[in-house]
Amino acid sequence: MKLFKDKFFRPDEEIEDLYGPPPDDIIEETDNTQKTDGPAPDDAEEDIPMGPVNEAEMAQMVYGPPSWFGEDKPHGFPVPPPPPRPDPYKKLLSCYNSVRAITDFKPKVALVLGSGLGDFAEKSVDIRCTVDYSQIEGFPISTVPGHKGRFIFGYIGECPVVVMQGRVHYYEGYSMQDVVLPTRLMHMLGAEVLFLTNASGGINASFSAGDFMLITDHISCFVPNPLIGQNIEQLGTRFPDMSKVYDPEINDIISDTAIELGIRIQKGVYLQLTGPSFESPAEIRMLRTFGADAVGMSTVIEAIAARHAGMRICGISCVANLACGMTDNPLTHEEVQASADKAAPKFRALVAGSIEKIAKIL
Ligand code: HPA
Repeated sequence: MKLFKDKFFRPDEEIEDLYGPPPDDIIEETDNTQKTDGPAPDDAEEDIPMGPVNEAEMAQMVYGPPSWFGEDKPHGFPVPPPPPRPDPYKKLLSCYNSVRAITDFKPKVALVLGSGLGDFAEKSVDIRCTVDYSQIEGFPISTVPGHKGRFIFGYIGECPVVVMQGRVHYYEGYSMQDVVLPTRLMHMLGAEVLFLTNASGGINASFSAGDFMLITDHISCFVPNPLIGQNIEQLGTRFPDMSKVYDPEINDIISDTAIELGIRIQKGVYLQLTGPSFESPAEIRMLRTFGADAVGMSTVIEAIAARHAGMRICGISCVANLACGMTDNPLTHEEVQASADKAAPKFRALVAGSIEKIAKIL
């Protein structure tokens, strides 16, 4: 103790020379801390209490008295009970009933529109009915500029579709259960296929801004799994297989459609991060070594929830920009949106053409 004090602190006299005598209340406090029950030993500094003496005392300092949460664990740390959670299946059923009160349309394909495809429905869908998200009680509503908020029911060619014009993202603060609720709802309404679209940052050095990437697989380990929590048995199994999330037969149809339309399409692995900040150059280098070809802030969790529920899935990513560090340009949402908008006519043709063909195998 003495050694410690000599080494790291100025002697008291030196401090008094510099700052004057300490105020009375500090002297009193110091006196109190040094009081001990027994006679003072030769070197009183040895007995200055250095902190809590055991785990239970430490726990009390951090968490308050043990009765706080009404439960004492043997190791001394009180553990709070898990907070009550709303039943996600009940919420799903109530959203389903809200939609069914407006329309009995039964879609075969569910299409989620990402950046750039915002006006897809007006241009490529024979619209029969629309349902604003605000008409569905408890439904999560997108706060992102450029993302609208409604379901559109109608036909692409002969194929009955439900189109999500505007999706919610985890970074908006919604729970994972809420973020995947629309996917589950569209399945409940009848959709067998989930067609996902998004804008992404290209990681693969052979990609260019404006390319399309057919998603062949995904990396989900940087976002919480949407199936965490009590399994919804009515939807699917506790441990769903993810070996072929992106349906090979449907992917072939999309590739063929791209060739027919003369649209170059890349293939690759899409990795979801939470966002909302874009990645750093070091993160992009790391993600490349992990095997990612494109990065974005959506899609993977929707694909997992859809696979859990037994849907067939496909996805196309519009590579709106090369990922951070691959060019000198800083990234902005406006630039991503503008680039996705520029690619929109081709994107629309590819998605609509593919869906018409997908309908034939359902
Ligand atoms: N990173 C993450 N998400 C994105 C990007 C990006 O570079 N571009 C479009 N969405």
